Formats: sequence, C-alpha cells, structure tokens
Amino acid sequence: MVAVQFLLNGRPVSAPPVPLQTTLLDYLRGEGLTGAKDGCAEGECGACTVLLVAPHDSSSAYRAVNSCLMFLPMLAGHEIHTVEDLARDNKLCEVQQAMAAAGGSQCGYCTPGFVMNLFAEQYRPDRAGLCDPHQMGGNLCRCTGYRPIRDAALSLGPAPADAFQARLSRPSPRLLALRSAGFSRPESVEECVQILVEDPAAKLVAGGTDVGVESNQRGSRWAHLVSLEAIEELREFSENDDRVLIGAGLPFTDILRRWWNAPAAVAEWLLTFASPTVRNRATLGGNLGNASPIGDSAPLLLALDASLHLAGPAGRRTILLHEFFTGYRKTALNPAELITAIEIPKPIPALWRFFKVSKRRMDDISTVAASMALSFDEQRRITRARFAFGGVADRSLRVLSAEEIVIGQPWTKPTVEAAQSAIAGELKPMSDHRGSAAYRLAVAQSLVEKFWHEG
Ligand SMILES: Cc1cc2nc3c(=O)[nH]c(=O)nc-3n(C[C@H](O)[C@H](O)[C@H](O)COP(=O)(O)OP(=O)(O)OC[C@H]3O[C@@H](n4cnc5c(N)ncnc54)[C@H](O)[C@@H]3O)c2cc1C
Ligand code: FES
Ligand code: FES
Repeated sequence: MVAVQFLLNGRPVSAPPVPLQTTLLDYLRGEGLTGAKDGCAEGECGACTVLLVAPHDSSSAYRAVNSCLMFLPMLAGHEIHTVEDLARDNKLCEVQQAMAAAGGSQCGYCTPGFVMNLFAEQYRPDRAGLCDPHQMGGNLCRCTGYRPIRDAALSLGPAPADAFQARLSRPSPRLLALRSAGFSRPESVEECVQILVEDPAAKLVAGGTDVGVESNQRGSRWAHLVSLEAIEELREFSENDDRVLIGAGLPFTDILRRWWNAPAAVAEWLLTFASPTVRNRATLGGNLGNASPIGDSAPLLLALDASLHLAGPAGRRTILLHEFFTGYRKTALNPAELITAIEIPKPIPALWRFFKVSKRRMDDISTVAASMALSFDEQRRITRARFAFGGVADRSLRVLSAEEIVIGQPWTKPTVEAAQSAIAGELKPMSDHRGSAAYRLAVAQSLVEKFWHEG
C-alpha cells in the first residue's frame, strides 16, 4: 500500500494508501471523476485519457495519457487534469464547444477521451497551422463516425490566452526521489542500480505501456516497482558528427520532436508506432527491454548497428544491439542492470527504410516489421547491407546471409532475388493468430522488393 500526493485539476490531493497496481483511472472514478471511462484497460481505445503536464524544453506541454496504464504511485508529484476541469465558469472550453457544434458526440462514451487529446493538440507549444486530427489516433468511437470529430479539430484556432495557456510557460513539476516498501523512484542511475541489487525481484517501469497491460490483462503482480521517470539522464537526447544518443527513458513523442532533422525512416517508424497517446509515455528502453520479437524499434536500430549503453553493479558497459537479444523475450542484461541510452553511429546509410505490416495500418502491433539499409561505393555497388526483421523468429534479427550475398553487387532485381533466396534459407518464422509462418516469410521477402522499388 502506497500513499500518493499530486496535483489534480489544480488542487493538491493526497490519495489514501492503495494497492500498488491501482490504476489512475480506477482512482479517478472512485473519486467521482467519471469523465474518464474504462473501455479496454489496455491503451487501445483512449476513453480513459487525461492530461499530464510534461516537460517541454524549459517550459511545459499538456500530454494526453492513458490513465488505465498508469499505476497511482507513479503519479506522485505529477500534475494531472481531467475532463471535469476543462469547462470553467460555467463555460465549455473551445474544444468542447467545437465538438458540440460539429456533432462530434452521440452516445458520449468516447467523447471525454477525444476532447482531452484535442485539447492537448490545441495547446501544443510548437503547433503551427491547424490542429492535427491524427493526434486523436488513439481514440476509438463506435457511433458518431470520425468525420464530425475531424471537422471539430480543423475548426479550432490558436489556444486562448487563459490560465491553461499561462501554465505552460512554467516548467513541469520536478519529480523527486521516492523510497517505500513497494514503490521506488530513484533520481540517478546509480541509485536505481543499488535498489535493484537490494531487491533482485523489483520490476522496472518506464512509461508503463507494456507493464500496465501485463498488470491489467494478464494479472501480473509485483511486490516492488521501480519507476525510471525521475532519472534525468535517461531523458537526454544529443547528436554530434559521430552519433545520435537517445536516453532510454525519453518518450517517443520527444524523440520525434528532438530528432527534428532525422531521416524519413524515423517518421516511418514512429508515426506507425502505437498511437500518439501511447507514444506520449512509451520509451525506447521499454521497447527493447521487453525483448518482444514483434517490437518495432529493434529492426530499425539493428539496421543502423545501434548499440545500447547499460549500467549495473559492475559499472557501465556498451553492447551491440545485434548481441542483445539472446532468445524469446531474453536479453544479455545481467541482474540489476538497465539500459540507459541507445547510440546510433553516424554516418547513417544513404538508403535506409522502415516497413511495418500489421492488420490495421495505424495503432497496431506488427505482424512483420523490417528495416533495411544500404551503403554504396562510387560505382553504386553495395559496400554495406543490413536486412533486419521483427516478427519472423523468437527475436528481432538481422539476416546475415542476405547481407553478405549482396556485397559488391549493384542494387538490381537479380540482387534483390539473391537476398530473397537467402532470407528463405535462413528465416524460420512462427505461426500465430497474426500470421502463419509461410505468410510471414512471404511478407519478409516481398518487403525487400518493396525496398528496391521505393528506395
Ligand atoms: C495500445 C498499444 C499499442 C502498442 N503498439 C506498439 C507498436 O506499434 N509497436 C511496438 O513495438 N510496441 C507497441 N506497444 C508496446 C509498448 O508501447 C512498447 O513496447 C513501449 O516502447 C514500451 O515502453 P514503456 O516505457 O511503456 O515500457 P514499460 O511498460 O515501462 O516497460 C516494458 C518492459 O521493459 C522493461 N524496461 C523498461 N525500461 C527499461 C530500461 N531502461 N532498461 C531495462 N529494462 C527496461 C520493464 O521492466 C518491462 O519489462 C503498444 C502498447 C500499447 C498499450
Ligand atoms: S480504457 Fe481504453 S485506453 Fe484506457
Ligand atoms: S460517441 Fe459513442 S462511441 Fe463515440
């Protein structure tokens, strides 16, 4: 049981001690704030969306987050707004007015979630031009239809100069270290390692978008959660002539914002990764740390020869991502070790793409993901090749035989076919409800051809 203090709708609240994995959504609804709805409890529908005041350079931004995926203790020190707070002085906010005027709500179950995401978009500090309806990509509506909701988004102008706007000029709350029996939030990597040494069964949680689903849908329970959110080092991003360095705890939304000059493959990867609401919390460290064979980041980073910075009781070390996954959901992490950053070496190959094949185009997990990268000499012969896939084995991997066979060749149809044959010889995909082994293999091969056509 952990007691939690945070700012809720502008007022300090002190939540009574609750079981460790109580969600923010359950807490809010228990307090009578029933605007946030329970639709799926796994980050898929957006009905539970609330706003979190998050860091945005030296000031703040409202970030829409799934309250069903946040354990209440993680809220300590945070600042949260629910839909109940938006209408002030008996007047709906502009987003609510726009939704009503456009007929954007019928049964209303989904409406608070849409409103929260659109509110965050209207007040987004770096927004230029119209509100982007894609920011509501993590919100599902079963009865209104999306056209009126899109119309509402496009009808909005700049955010009004009100108290919500004024709040953004100040920094977001600084999260402080916490230590209690079931919940810890260290402020440094060294402190985190120490906690993991003292309690080897402790579970790391970054954005919680996997851990929350594991808790809500699979009933997993942990005696001790260690939140990485207060470790500034894990949220760093830097780029120089030799490399790009991304903090393991930097949410995907910030990666896209900070890596503003990134090659197109980065947007191909991030804009099909989950939904904007999930990306507001999800991190690279979590995506690689869970070692899912269908995680999207691993193929992308394998194609770039990325390496991971790790920290543990024996100190710091670096490991190639290619050597990180050791089996189904297994990694080379030693006990009490964590990922601190992801390093991408430069120069980034001339030709580099990311492809994702999933049942839905957006907001879905991959059936097969692929990232391919080629470098050429002056005669346009291949000097370096990377063919990396997810969803085709017990882990994300590179197909080394395909990489070798194309070296020294021009990037032509016969070279593509040679790579496809090597892939057929090396990959042994598994079958599951997302796709049979034969389908996955055929997709992997056809993506090489797509790379050739579109590259
Ligand atoms: C609706 C929805 C859609 C999704 N869509 C996609 C998708 O399109 N593509 C995709 O790849 N994933 C998807 N995911 C999965 C999830 O969002 C990602 O895996 C995400 O990157 C996890 O990051 P997190 O910070 O939330 O991790 P968490 O849930 O906090 O942690 C995940 C795991 O990693 C461990 N961990 C966290 N940080 C570290 C660290 N620094 N070092 C070592 N271990 C660590 C944790 O202990 C845990 O085991 C989706 C999830 C949801 C709910
Ligand atoms: S209840 Fe569906 S996303 Fe949270
Ligand atoms: S208004 Fe009914 S689900 Fe959207």
